[in-house]
Amino acid sequence: MHKVIFDTDPGVDDAMALLFLHRHPEVDLIGVTTVFGNVSLDLTTRNAQFLHQEWGISAPIARGADRTIDPLRSDDRAASVVHGLDGLGNIGLPDTIDWPLDPRPAYQFIIDTVRDNPGEVTLIAVGRMTNLALALQADPDFAGLVKEVIVMGGAFDVNGNVTPAAEANIHGDPEAADIIFTTPWKVTIVGLDVTLKTIMTGEYLADMAKSGEKAVQLLSDLSQYYIEFYKSRVGIAGMAVHDSTACVYLVRPDLFILRSGAVRVVCGGIADGETIQAPDSGRKFVGTAWDGQPSQWVCTDVRSGEVLEVIRTAL
Ligand code: BDR
Ligand code: CA
Repeated sequence: MHKVIFDTDPGVDDAMALLFLHRHPEVDLIGVTTVFGNVSLDLTTRNAQFLHQEWGISAPIARGADRTIDPLRSDDRAASVVHGLDGLGNIGLPDTIDWPLDPRPAYQFIIDTVRDNPGEVTLIAVGRMTNLALALQADPDFAGLVKEVIVMGGAFDVNGNVTPAAEANIHGDPEAADIIFTTPWKVTIVGLDVTLKTIMTGEYLADMAKSGEKAVQLLSDLSQYYIEFYKSRVGIAGMAVHDSTACVYLVRPDLFILRSGAVRVVCGGIADGETIQAPDSGRKFVGTAWDGQPSQWVCTDVRSGEVLEVIRTAL
């Protein structure tokens, strides 16, 4: 059984990933932490509460960061054009949802839960990595107690989706991501290199929803705006299931090809948020920002058809 804390900014594809983790028989979802990103922190937290209520998810929710780790960055770089003004496809949600929140800030919840379960917890981060970076700043030693970190973010051998250089989760808080990647814990990065190959068509989703099951029907309803965005703005027939793909890595790592090597994030300038890897098999770059950095794992390819089937089966 995989004990998981899910760090998220729901978000349409975040919602699918949450339902996947909730339903997968090998996953024990022990906490959900929210972060600003696809929409404001108030809305991502409200959306997590809504989804917990609708889907009967009992894992505690802890509210996280509402802005970048570097106070000098001024904006939250929200992506409501992708996910709708409410973050869940404009389905018409109430402003607040009466669902309990853990009293601790997300970073403290993460530290405490990992310390209570040493060596057992996988952190899956599918939004800005601000909460994880705050946890490392508050308690650097907790990193040694984390089993694994899985991140949806980055674009290595492909262009970004916010700028040609940067993917949204990294672009939204580059300094936080660089802290995560340069910490000596095991990080696996599931970026656009593989998530843009993992496209779920509207027909595929409709077929899943045909079961008439209420939870999957809601997922289908809130995904329509996102599917339309991909059709009109990206020119793809279907939606990239970014965050679920990262969750599938947890249970089926055999479906992915990985490359190891130090990873850094460009912080500032026209390539702000770009992710770069120095593969272990290549040059050493002695005396540079890569020298002595821990090796992390970047997904470079995926058996996407099988990833979609893993999602369908769990849902
Ligand atoms: C990532 O950005 C968000 O829009 C999605 O939820 C996903 O986590 C993809 O770049
Ligand atoms: Ca997300």
